Amino acid sequence: MWRPPDPVIENDMSQATPETSVEMPAGFDPEESAQLRAVAIAAAMAVAPGLKAAFRSKMVVDFKNDLRDIVTEHDRAAEVAITEHLLAAVPQSEVLGEEGGLRGSGPVRWYVDPIDGTANFARGLPNWCISIGAVVDGQIVAGVIVDPMGGNVFSADLRGAYLNDAPMRSNAAQEARFATLISSYPAARDFAADGKAAALEDFGQLVEGFSSVRRNGSAALGLAHVAAGWADAAAGFGINAWDVTAAVLILRQSGGRYLPFAYGQTPAAEPAFVHPGYIAIGGGGDYPFLSQTWARIAASRS
Ligand code: IPD
Ligand code: CA
Ligand code: CA
Repeated sequence: MWRPPDPVIENDMSQATPETSVEMPAGFDPEESAQLRAVAIAAAMAVAPGLKAAFRSKMVVDFKNDLRDIVTEHDRAAEVAITEHLLAAVPQSEVLGEEGGLRGSGPVRWYVDPIDGTANFARGLPNWCISIGAVVDGQIVAGVIVDPMGGNVFSADLRGAYLNDAPMRSNAAQEARFATLISSYPAARDFAADGKAAALEDFGQLVEGFSSVRRNGSAALGLAHVAAGWADAAAGFGINAWDVTAAVLILRQSGGRYLPFAYGQTPAAEPAFVHPGYIAIGGGGDYPFLSQTWARIAASRS
């Protein structure tokens, strides 16, 4: 029987980052988390129709750090609207948005990505979403990912994970050779960090080890699809808290595992959602060579 090739692992760093799921808050009221989930859904749904209407229209596009780091007028406008909505609904809160930085202050911190998958949105590809996560005392208590083009609302609170209004469970193939992995690795920034030849060699191992590898261009949506049981795993580097905070809780509450990978400036003791590397695996999946590869890459960047 054909088996995926054994990856070449120079240093087995698979224990370098503990395979923890998201930290669960001790004592936070599930009813309160449900209320925060409802607020997040309302804020995302308030901007979804406008973004859907703007999609594939002529729009103003700016560049942030480089030509691959795109922002549109709609990212900025949606973040302002979401921020105002959240601060009005929960005055004792602060909002950290990708485009506008920190607004407000209070014990609830919202992480907002007004459009995750901006490059897709700006070009005309329908893989993009709105992502809002709520954190209290360093722990995620509610999250929503709204996919306006697909008509899907993925959300979670401390009671569970939901696709639209129905409970949601992840469901992954047990072995990589039967599994679909969503990953944009390597991108140009990964060539710079890891070396082009090494990164392409690792990419080759993923292509040969998994049944299929897909680049969808939205980390949050990829994680939501794993949580929904529509893909088996997702993995990446170079992400920020606004990309994944909502998704981490949605994935975990759907029975999946979120493996954070620390490197660079982020201390390993920080919560999972602030780490720049991640692997997400749906319930029932186990892909050791993927976590060994990610641990090795993360260790080499540290
Ligand atoms: C990006 C997307 C992309 C991921 C990048 C993110 P943006 O977010 O999620 O899939 O690979 O790391 O920055 O810029 O579209 O909000
Ligand atoms: Ca993003
Ligand atoms: Ca964004």
